Amino acid sequence: MKMIFQGVITFFSTLAVFSSTTLAAASRCDVSALPALDQFGASVLSIDAVQVDNSTLSTPPTSFCNVSITYTHPGQNDRINVWVWLPNSWNGRFQGVGGGGWTTGLVPANTIGAVAQGYAAVTTDGGHASTASTASWGLLNPGNVNLYLLQDFASVTLNDMTVLGKQVTEAYYGKPISKSYWNGCSTGGRQGLMMAQRYPEAYDGILAIAPAINWAEFIPTEFWPQRVMQKANYFSSQCEFNAITAAAVSACDELDGLKDGVIGMIGQCTFDPHSVVGKPYSCTDVNGTISTQAAAIVKSIWAGARDSEDKFQWYGLTQQAPLSGLANTTCSTENCTGVPFFISSDWHRIFLQRNNSFDPYSYSDVEWDAAFRLSRNKYTSIISTSDPDLTGFKLHDGKMITWHGMADELIAFNGTVDYYQRVLELDPNAPEYYKFFSAPGVQHCQGGNGAIPTDALAQLVQWVENGEAPETLGANRTVNGENWQQGLCAWPLSSVYKGGDKRLATSFVCE
Ligand SMILES: *[C@@H]1O[C@H](CO)[C@@H](O)[C@H](O)[C@H]1NC(C)=O
Ligand SMILES: *[C@@H]1O[C@H](CO)[C@@H](O)[C@H](O)[C@H]1NC(C)=O
Ligand SMILES: *[C@@H]1O[C@H](CO)[C@@H](O)[C@H](O)[C@H]1NC(C)=O
Ligand SMILES: *[C@@H]1O[C@H](CO)[C@@H](O)[C@H](O)[C@H]1NC(C)=O
Ligand SMILES: *[C@@H]1O[C@H](CO)[C@@H](O)[C@H](O)[C@H]1NC(C)=O
Ligand SMILES: *[C@@H]1O[C@H](CO)[C@@H](O)[C@H](O)[C@H]1NC(C)=O
Ligand SMILES: *[C@@H]1O[C@H](CO)[C@@H](O)[C@H](O)[C@H]1NC(C)=O
Ligand SMILES: *[C@@H]1O[C@H](CO)[C@@H](O)[C@H](O)[C@H]1NC(C)=O
Repeated sequence: MKMIFQGVITFFSTLAVFSSTTLAAASRCDVSALPALDQFGASVLSIDAVQVDNSTLSTPPTSFCNVSITYTHPGQNDRINVWVWLPNSWNGRFQGVGGGGWTTGLVPANTIGAVAQGYAAVTTDGGHASTASTASWGLLNPGNVNLYLLQDFASVTLNDMTVLGKQVTEAYYGKPISKSYWNGCSTGGRQGLMMAQRYPEAYDGILAIAPAINWAEFIPTEFWPQRVMQKANYFSSQCEFNAITAAAVSACDELDGLKDGVIGMIGQCTFDPHSVVGKPYSCTDVNGTISTQAAAIVKSIWAGARDSEDKFQWYGLTQQAPLSGLANTTCSTENCTGVPFFISSDWHRIFLQRNNSFDPYSYSDVEWDAAFRLSRNKYTSIISTSDPDLTGFKLHDGKMITWHGMADELIAFNGTVDYYQRVLELDPNAPEYYKFFSAPGVQHCQGGNGAIPTDALAQLVQWVENGEAPETLGANRTVNGENWQQGLCAWPLSSVYKGGDKRLATSFVCE
């Protein structure tokens, strides 16, 4: 430990002889110039540094030093890759880049964006390849879950990469990092909250979008829509589902005073799918009239998952959320069959039943209930990321922003409401350091008719560095070919049109 620490000091003092800004960055992108890295519990296997000039991964091209670290947790038999990208023109800040789905960190998709903005950026593979399915790593062998790799994915490697990434960054530039930020959506959003809950000193600002928190509950119940269709012995075409969704949007659109193709007030939308039974629907490959079965199915999907005694398990999707995410189907000329969302199926197969051949459609009622309980009991502490106690983050003087699309088709918006409410119950002053904005009509991380935040990270930086807390999140969307601006409201407020130019954020108030 001491040796390593002295190594860092030596490196700093060597650099201090030069003005770091006048050094050609490429000459410093050399592994021999990097200090020995130190993270408790981790053992570095290799480190490599290669200058990347004018990378066309970004427009305009970016030049950066690409540091790759491979390490293990001795005894855990894991092998984790970390990438630290150090831009030639550094803004003094550090960014942890989150992943998505089963992917721990996104290279290069999100990382290059951070680097192009001048951030030193770090991300990791968390010890498993970025594959669609967990079959390749979730089980050590049939019957035995790879809990260490799950833990690596859920939490441990996120902090490791941060600690290692900061050491590399400060040594490379010969200066301390000014501020550190987390940025991620979905799994990346969950990871942001994991940092705030478990490693509260790692980041000064956290942007945790559409977070996949409450994992042990929402992931198994993402299979609920398929189960509902299976029980009804009726798998709808997406055309029929889309007709019901469109009818709901049309019925509830104007509750916020504006006809704009967006349900702003989900809580006040009482649309009943049974009211459109018999209405015709038509797509290129299929047509018909909305059935009683489809109406009942959609109602039950919106109501959320229940156990066999009709007790609440988890929240449903809102009326505007496309049903193609969790209630997807594929149709032949004869019939339609279900296409489950792969992350939920994987969870049942690999992590709950520990059996790669398991079919989640085969659950009896009793087994479904038991699987949900098992998920909670076995995995909440590892991956749910639902601890509302943010004391450590508050003491660190961190700031955090979450926004979540109300039309999210994969992660129930109400799950984030549930979490935020629990945060407020514990600390009514939480909005002083954690703000939650709702994005009406926005789907999972992006897409949909609603206004999407234009630069939430910039607003977070303003809050952290200049003390300017965001009242609303600046967002925009295209309506009838025009760019409309809107300020997203902090939950539980809703944006209501007050008259005037609908393209301007000033024509709306949060109430
Ligand atoms: C990168 O682009 C800059 C500006 O166009 C140019 O001056 C420089 O020579 C390029 N570097 C390499 C290694 O191609
Ligand atoms: C960064 O370096 C690693 C290891 O040498 C390499 O696999 C990766 O492709 C490099 N990335 C870029 C963008 O050059
Ligand atoms: C979601 O929350 C709103 C209020 O915030 C409530 O009216 C609605 O019923 C909830 N939906 C579900 C599916 O729980
Ligand atoms: C509906 O589909 C049938 C064939 O299944 C076709 O004959 C009919 O023209 C279609 N109607 C519309 C309105 O697309
Ligand atoms: C729904 O399933 C079809 C058939 O497998 C697939 O092509 C499509 O991408 C799926 N849609 C979504 C949104 O996952
Ligand atoms: C649906 O049709 C396929 C053939 O296209 C058939 O194999 C399957 O058994 C049918 N399923 C139901 C539930 O009727
Ligand atoms: C694994 O799942 C398959 C398919 O449902 C089943 O036949 C088999 O018995 C299961 N194995 C165990 C050990 O439960
Ligand atoms: C939102 O504004 C940004 C510029 O701030 C622009 O690049 C983007 O195209 C706009 N998006 C929409 C949907 O209008």
